[in-house]
This record gives sequence, structure tokens and C-alpha cells, in this order.
Amino acid sequence: MNFSQEIINWYNLNKRDLPWRNTKDPYKIWLSEIILQQTKVTQGLPYYQKFCETFPNVEKLANAKEEKVLKLWQGLGYYSRARNLHFASKQIINTFEGKFPNNHKDILSLKGVGEYTAAAIASFAYKLPYAVVDGNVFRLLSRFYGIDTPINSSPGKKLFSELAQTVLDKTRPDINNQAIMEFGALMCKPKDPNCNKCTLQDNCKAFQKNEIDKLPVKIKKGKQKKLYFEYLFITKKENTYINKRVDKGIWQNLYEFPYLEFEQSESEEEVINNIKTNKFLNGAKFKLIKTSEIHKHILSHRIINARVWHIEIDDDLKENKWNKVAIESINDYPMSRLMEIFLETNTF
Ligand code: ADE
Repeated sequence: MNFSQEIINWYNLNKRDLPWRNTKDPYKIWLSEIILQQTKVTQGLPYYQKFCETFPNVEKLANAKEEKVLKLWQGLGYYSRARNLHFASKQIINTFEGKFPNNHKDILSLKGVGEYTAAAIASFAYKLPYAVVDGNVFRLLSRFYGIDTPINSSPGKKLFSELAQTVLDKTRPDINNQAIMEFGALMCKPKDPNCNKCTLQDNCKAFQKNEIDKLPVKIKKGKQKKLYFEYLFITKKENTYINKRVDKGIWQNLYEFPYLEFEQSESEEEVINNIKTNKFLNGAKFKLIKTSEIHKHILSHRIINARVWHIEIDDDLKENKWNKVAIESINDYPMSRLMEIFLETNTF
């Protein structure tokens, strides 16, 4: 029997009866998932009930005063969750004509909804095949498959997301996602997991190697050197410039936007000054179009705070070691995960 089949069987026999599991209403599922972020089920339950009674649909929430929403949230902490919830309810009214979005991309566009929450809503409400990856999933997968890649590193996040997606039973992603989280929460617990009663025991790599208490691996804060990379997305009409990394290291032979490297966080003004004076633009005139958000990229030995500056140049760069390429062909080049994130999220 396979991994997903096994945990689904276990789930069907052992699941807790929780109210958000008895609804397909995306609004209620969204409410529950936002409430349950950083919150235990027992603590979140009464809040979920209060919110459902006071704001039974998205319109009621959108029409409420923020103060009322915050008051109802009182005691749960992380109040930005409540403010984002309220903001997103207005987004649903204004952008989606009051209908809760029914595809992954639109769900992800709601304020306060990240990868985990979007996958949860898409699968629970619409049976869309997106695997959830939360702390429970990291723990269970790292133990069962014996993977010691740090779960809070960028390669780790990618690896575990892909693995969760691969093992997801696409015919019933809703049940599979609930099951994997429930199994992690009740059986494969962080401390004192129920290995003796676990139906996965025979195939669990960590159990076989006596490494249950060593997995998952998490990089401790402060171990890594902090760096600040200011990437340049230089455009001239339909072209841009990318650099092939030749130096040894994890990104050898991969392509990337040219970048300036700093050891401390610099102000926007300082970065612009550096772009202006840096020899690699050869004094070319440019116009700043947009600056992206800072993306924190965690690797085992460094934390890279990366951002992209979209600048438009008047004339092609001369005598330049970078490759001039068509923007639309940029995905043809091998890139680091960090570059891939920029291109996927279009944050420039
Ligand atoms: N924590 C986050 N989402 C959950 C869910 N759907 N069921 C139980 N616990 C959760």
C-alpha cells in the first residue's frame, strides 16, 4: 500500500470531527485556515464559531467595520491576520464580484493568503490537486522518507513541496491534505510520536535508522551570514541582460540578473547611487521603473535578502560581458531557485 493510501485509511478511522471539515463553503474554509495559522485547534474553534455566526458570508464581513473584526479577533494574536482577512473580503466583493475565487491563482491573490492557505482552500473547497505543506507535512515527510535537508532552507522548501505534490492522491486531494496534516498532528508528533501504533512504521526510514528525534532538520537562526543582493532587471525594448555564473559554488553555470552585493541593508538611494556609479553600466542613462519586495532566501550558510530593480536603459550596453537576451526567452536558460522565484512571482 502506498503512503497516501495508508494515511487516508488511518484518517478515515481516526479523524477529529471539526466543523470546517463538514463544509465545502470556500468562505468558511478560508476563515478556518486563517484562524488556525499559528493557533491550536482547541484555541481557534470558538473563534471560528463566533466569526461564522457574526459574519455568515463574505459580504457581511466586507461590510463590517474593521474595529468590529478586530474586537472579535481579540485574544488570538497576530492581528495582521484579521486586518488582511477584512481587506481580502473587500477584494472578493470588488475584484471577484462577491464570489469567492475558484482557482488557485485567484485564491493566492487574496491578501494574507500564501501558498499553504491557497492549497488548503483550493483542495478542500474545490478538490483541486494542490498539496498543502505545513509543519506537520514537513515533519511527516522528512521522517518517512528520511530526508535531512533543512525544512527552513530554500532548497528544503522546494524539495518538500515537490514531494508532497508527487505523493498527493490527485483523485481526492481534499481528503489527502486533511489526512496528512491530521496524521502529523496526532501521530507523527514533534515530541513522543506514536511510532508504536503507527501503520507507516514498517516503511518509515527515520524509524528504521532510529532517527525520529533527529528529523526534521531546521537551520538555527544566526548560523548563516547575511547578504544583500540587489538584482538588476535591465531592459531595452524587448531585451534584457543575464549573466552566466562561472565561479564554483551552488550556482555555477546558472544564469542570473546582474547584481550588486552588500554586507548590510542599504537604502534605496544608496543602491541607486551604486547602480549609477558602478562601472558595469558604463555610465548608461537609465530610468527606474519598479523595485520588488525583498525576498529572504535561506540557504545553509547564508541568508540572502534579495530584491530586483527594474531599470530601463536608453541605449544598449556596450562592451559588456553579459548576455543580451529576449525577455520572453529568459525561461530557456537554467536559473537558480532564487531567480526562478523572481520570474514566477513577477515581483519586478
Ligand atoms: N490546521 C490548519 N488547518 C487545519 C485543518 N483543516 N484541520 C485541522 N487543523 C488544521
